[in-house]
Amino acid sequence: MAIPEEIINEIKYKNDIESVMAPYVSLKRRGKNLVGLCPFHNEKTPSFTVYPENGSFYCFGCGVGGDVFSFVRQIENLDYIDAIKLLAERSGVTLPQDGYDDSMQKLKNTVFEINRETAKFYHTYLMSPQGKWAFDYLVGRGLSIATIKHFGLGAAPNSSNSLINHLKGLGYSISDMIQANVIGRGTSAYNSQQEYYYDRFRKRVMFPIINIRGRVIGFSGRAMPGDDKAGGKYVNTSDTPVYKKSDNLFGMNFAKNHCDERVILVEGNMDVISLHQAGFENAVAALGTAFTDEQAKLLSRYTKEIVLLMDSDAAGQKAMKRAGAILQNTGLDIRVVLLPDGKDPDEYIKKNGAARFKALLEGAVSEIEYKLLTAVEGIDTNSDDGRLQYLARAAEIIAESNDIMTRDLYIGRLCDKYGVSRAAMETKVADIRKNKIKQREKQELDEIIHPKFDRGDVNPERRLYPAATAAEETVIAVLLQHPDYLKRAIEDLKPENMMTELNRRIYKRLCECEQSGRNIDLSYFGEILTPSEMGYLSSLINSEKGDKNAFIVLKDSIKVILDEGVKKQTSDTKNMSIDDWAENIQKIIEAKKKGN
Ligand code: CTP
Ligand code: MN
Repeated sequence: MAIPEEIINEIKYKNDIESVMAPYVSLKRRGKNLVGLCPFHNEKTPSFTVYPENGSFYCFGCGVGGDVFSFVRQIENLDYIDAIKLLAERSGVTLPQDGYDDSMQKLKNTVFEINRETAKFYHTYLMSPQGKWAFDYLVGRGLSIATIKHFGLGAAPNSSNSLINHLKGLGYSISDMIQANVIGRGTSAYNSQQEYYYDRFRKRVMFPIINIRGRVIGFSGRAMPGDDKAGGKYVNTSDTPVYKKSDNLFGMNFAKNHCDERVILVEGNMDVISLHQAGFENAVAALGTAFTDEQAKLLSRYTKEIVLLMDSDAAGQKAMKRAGAILQNTGLDIRVVLLPDGKDPDEYIKKNGAARFKALLEGAVSEIEYKLLTAVEGIDTNSDDGRLQYLARAAEIIAESNDIMTRDLYIGRLCDKYGVSRAAMETKVADIRKNKIKQREKQELDEIIHPKFDRGDVNPERRLYPAATAAEETVIAVLLQHPDYLKRAIEDLKPENMMTELNRRIYKRLCECEQSGRNIDLSYFGEILTPSEMGYLSSLINSEKGDKNAFIVLKDSIKVILDEGVKKQTSDTKNMSIDDWAENIQKIIEAKKKGN
């Protein structure tokens, strides 16, 4: 690793895992460990465990784990070096300027610059006489010049190389432009060796996507009406080193300063812009993705309440239901606005004005009310059968609420409206809740008995070599807990003896630590392991494998690995040429000697 050991240790020492986690997870002491609800997946019983003793954590529900660096890396969505930097800053440790690999950071900075220059290029073009077609379109949709400037809107010329040439002129390389995903690469139809490059956005109105720190991270390009058919209505930036669409929200850079009370979630970029222009600066949109957990998490850091304002077409309703389900576990209040007459928010506000829109917002119904209203669809409540059918659905909906006053309120309303007795409806709701609680308890018990997370997912070769994999895990667990045995282990077991690639990588690193005389520590793996592999390692370091008779367990496990290796080679030889076979037999003899 390129950052010196002492610096990593110092950062780790100054950032104890409990205090780093405190803002994100609420932890309770259990024995010598701490447990809490996992911030990386939705759960009702705590399976997120922190081991202050060795500064690690592991979630038995979803398998995330690692050390304090892995935690920051995942919760803040950073890469490895940035996580180290963040913790260094938090604790006032200065990192050496050179001597570690910051090529990723350099690339990110270049991509940010290219994005900014691209946004400027599109904006300048939009405001120029040549961009009149796009300018007229935006003004025709009711946007003021101030709004166009505020959002930094632009237009991409109808040309396949004007952006490339512009960026080339500024000194950027083709490969960096590709990384920023503002240009595309193709190969000639006649000669597949011959590559060519083209502007990804052509003849489109451009919406820059800006993150909460005010940097341009990507683009959404809308086709002109009539051109939609050819390249699709929208072309969006794919994921780049600085952009992941499932983590971002269009308009969040402005909304973040206006959403203490609530945020309005709409579907389209144009909806966000129209609402901002009308004074609703707390509107955001999900960038053409189905609403994600990450977006919900981002919002929950800034606001208390979400108003879902989806188009009133079928797709909009579906999106709204999905967003509602995801937001359910964030602790945010959810309210829903029903837009009348099949319009989207942009059209509604243009037709009816800001005041009517505000009234509509104020009439936002709670999520339960929304469900009660829409559950009536397809049911004829004038007939007795229909009424009963509706009340049964309604009872299910009311039973979902955990608040007794809420349940009481809606039971009362329904009974008045449909002329059934309160006692009957209350019993019905109570029965549903009892069943639900039973089901949930059973499910929670199931989760404890059969943890959802399967280590085989992280180490896929387990399916090929189950016995060897188990033994490899034991060896690694014991060595992490008793690093003093490592010297002896290396004599019998070489990294290449490990049958699964993941454990080979881990063990190789362990051997390197031994050779360079550095202390064994989870932190030295952060660089070579993915976050979920870190979870795997963390589960091993905290397992009980090294608790008793560790040395004997270690020797036995090494023997199993070597034996399994021999077995595999023997079966491989069946399909071998005579020469390969002769060479191989020598290896087997040597391996056998070591194993015994
Ligand atoms: N979207 C997309 N790709 C498409 C269609 C839509 O990424 N082919 C995303 C865009 O982010 C868009 C949002 O989904 O803003 C909502 O789509 P839609 O309602 O069709 O677009 P609007 O933004 O409302 O566009 P307009 O009002 O200009 O028709
Ligand atoms: Mn629209």
